[in-house]
Amino acid sequence: MTDAVPPAAPAAPGARPVVVERVEERLRSADLDDLCGVTADAIREGGGFGWVAPPPRDVMERFWRGIVMVPGRTLFLGRLDGVVCGSLQLVRPPGNNEAQAFAASLTTCFVAPWARGHRVGRGMVAAAEALAREEGFKLLNLDVRATQTAAIALYRSAGFRQWGENPYYAMVGGRTVAGLYFHKPLVPELGEPS
Ligand SMILES: CC(C)(COP(=O)(O)OP(=O)(O)OC[C@H]1O[C@@H](n2cnc3c(N)ncnc32)[C@H](O)[C@@H]1OP(=O)(O)O)[C@@H](O)C(=O)NCCC(=O)NCCS
Repeated sequence: MTDAVPPAAPAAPGARPVVVERVEERLRSADLDDLCGVTADAIREGGGFGWVAPPPRDVMERFWRGIVMVPGRTLFLGRLDGVVCGSLQLVRPPGNNEAQAFAASLTTCFVAPWARGHRVGRGMVAAAEALAREEGFKLLNLDVRATQTAAIALYRSAGFRQWGENPYYAMVGGRTVAGLYFHKPLVPELGEPS
């Protein structure tokens, strides 16, 4: 079941309708079907969120069903013209991690190739950031392959700053791929790092 998240900014005149939803408890079977399809498309196109080749359909279905049930995780779905075309997750730190209880993470952001460029990605990032703020988090973290230039541009334009790089972040086709680390302070009182 899903809850629509109000957009952060009004849509431009003539823009195709984008809706971002927060999944509550479980995925509708039609949405799960669409999500598996767009996940496979995005992985084939160079994905950037773990898989380097699409897994069998039943594995992918179990993956997404499981994600919705993991404590501390919220799944957002993006729709273009009513069809699920992307997703993003907001991840909170585990309860024992008191030292990092102020920081949440964004992960697994993708939009199907056919739906890119319509502000679905921006809408999902804004929705996840709004929920993190609502829950009192002071910082958002994320990491991304250095080859994902569209994602890097999206995060920079959403106010994230790069603070680090790992040259051995991922292994794709037998080659190492660097990864970049970004954060975005959500409150001014976080101050300068000491
Ligand atoms: C990154 C991704 C999610 C962007 O989704 P999208 O819905 O097409 O992005 P949006 O339309 O919301 O674009 C928002 C901003 O991102 C930047 N951006 C998006 N696509 C871009 C591109 N191809 N080149 C440069 N900048 C781009 C722009 O700043 C854009 O703002 P603008 O529309 O005002 O110019 C999508 O390209 C994708 O799924 N990429 C592959 C997976 C991936 O890299 N995921 C990140 C893993 S952490």
